[in-house]
Amino acid sequence: SKLDRLLDELIAQYRHLPGATLPVLHAVQDALGHIPPAAVPRIAQALNLSRAEVHGVVSFYHHFRTRPPGARVVQLCRAEACQSMGGKALWEHACQSLGLDEQAGAHGATTADQGVTLQPVYCLGLCACAPAMAIDGQVHGRVQAADFERLLGRPQE
Ligand code: FES
Repeated sequence: SKLDRLLDELIAQYRHLPGATLPVLHAVQDALGHIPPAAVPRIAQALNLSRAEVHGVVSFYHHFRTRPPGARVVQLCRAEACQSMGGKALWEHACQSLGLDEQAGAHGATTADQGVTLQPVYCLGLCACAPAMAIDGQVHGRVQAADFERLLGRPQE
């Protein structure tokens, strides 16, 4: 299948590296936007690992998604500097505003209309301008609830 061909190509690029699992998984997510569950057996076999081992790596790293992301990916920093500057309130606001369960957070959660994926991250390198967030990779600092709405094009009434 098309997926198998892509996987073989990506695996071939990295399999010679020690600890090839992470580079392969990153490459798959970069190519597809997520790591489809159907990819796990092939990756496991190629790297001489069990499916459970590969699945374990995918679940351990919050960065990896097993479902396609929404049209926009919003990453909110939940690390210390941002937490101390209102990051927790911003996270709660974002979850509420997007209608997402705060507990669903570790690997990110996607709105029902597939418009936005909200994902926690641990430092965006913008600690001096906490709290920080990124939209589709573009970082913003000192984000307040109103900025969140504005940056997502959802002005508050
Ligand atoms: Fe949030 Fe560094 S702690 S950007």
